[in-house]
Amino acid sequence: MLDLIVYGILVVLLVQLLRLRMSDGDLSLMWCERFGESPTQLAGKVVWITGASSGIGEALAVELSRVGAKLVLSARREGELRRVKQRCVEAGKVPDNDVMVVPLDSVAYDTHAGCVERVLAHFGRVDILVNNSGRTQRSVFWETSLDGDRFIFEVDVVGQVSLTKAVLPHMMERGEGQIVVTSSLSGKIPTPRQSAYSGSKFALHGMFGALRAELHSYDINILIACPGPVESNIVQNAMVGEPSKSLNIDPKLDPVHVDDMAVSRCARLFTVGMANRLDEIWIAKNPHLTFTYMYTYLPFMKNRLLKTMAKRVMKKTQ
Ligand SMILES: NC(=O)c1ccc[n+]([C@@H]2O[C@H](COP(=O)([O-])OP(=O)(O)OC[C@H]3O[C@@H](n4cnc5c(N)ncnc54)[C@H](OP(=O)(O)O)[C@@H]3O)[C@@H](O)[C@H]2O)c1
Repeated sequence: MLDLIVYGILVVLLVQLLRLRMSDGDLSLMWCERFGESPTQLAGKVVWITGASSGIGEALAVELSRVGAKLVLSARREGELRRVKQRCVEAGKVPDNDVMVVPLDSVAYDTHAGCVERVLAHFGRVDILVNNSGRTQRSVFWETSLDGDRFIFEVDVVGQVSLTKAVLPHMMERGEGQIVVTSSLSGKIPTPRQSAYSGSKFALHGMFGALRAELHSYDINILIACPGPVESNIVQNAMVGEPSKSLNIDPKLDPVHVDDMAVSRCARLFTVGMANRLDEIWIAKNPHLTFTYMYTYLPFMKNRLLKTMAKRVMKKTQ
């Protein structure tokens, strides 16, 4: 009898390992994609996306327009936001009036309340806020100035916190809503040459995890999305040492970004996480996904795994 139980457990483990090997999202996300709520549930929701002028934010806007969500698109470059709006109107089920462009700089904190007022005047509510804008980094700790570290934390953490503080009272008043935060697998695993970026993404888990606990009596979901490498402009825009310096290289030359996930697939999995009101999702192809599972669930291997990754990343960039 004991043999049978052990045999059964081993078979279940093997099946899960095989599923993981073929997945591009964590196991609960994959389960929800097959058996959970469909992203069409998001039809008619007012979704405000920051960082919507390119990459993941742009693809998410297009994906949501296809399911009939109403959109607010924010980033600094208004021309690019208008281009994305046009894509949404052409691709989706939304009329021109249901896609609003609101230029916003994440670090111009004192403008955020005014942006919220504009959105509320137009749509009357915000159902979902997607804090997605961000910059990454490619420079070791000792070659990154303190200004550089501060810059990444301001764009990637304080900007998200500031806009959330401006939107949250309206959600609390209505008693419902959803706040999505784009973290990264670098917010789960410390990543070489990205100390400020990794630190800022780890900080998002602390800030928004605590907020989730504080909101326990409200029907407000906090979803922290952790993509691995995804096709976008993130590598070209990566800060190198100083706020004013960008990497500007072909992403294929970056050791972290090899065989990236298509941005449309990443956006699709975001919408699965949103429709199912998950707390945290991991979105990545292998080996990144399996590596994240090992790092998270095999604590005795953490240091060895980190050293292996560091050797690979640092060697390729010397
Ligand atoms: N691509 C990946 O491999 C990957 C992996 C994990 C996590 N992520 C995260 O995904 C998010 C989106 O990045 P992405 O990959 O789509 O890169 P991306 O193509 O470079 O997009 C970044 C977006 O952030 C906006 N942004 C940057 N600084 C801003 C500021 N000060 N104020 C307002 N908006 C600002 C940019 O718009 P403007 O320049 O017009 O302002 C742009 O829309 C980021 O949080 C990033 O950390 C990406």
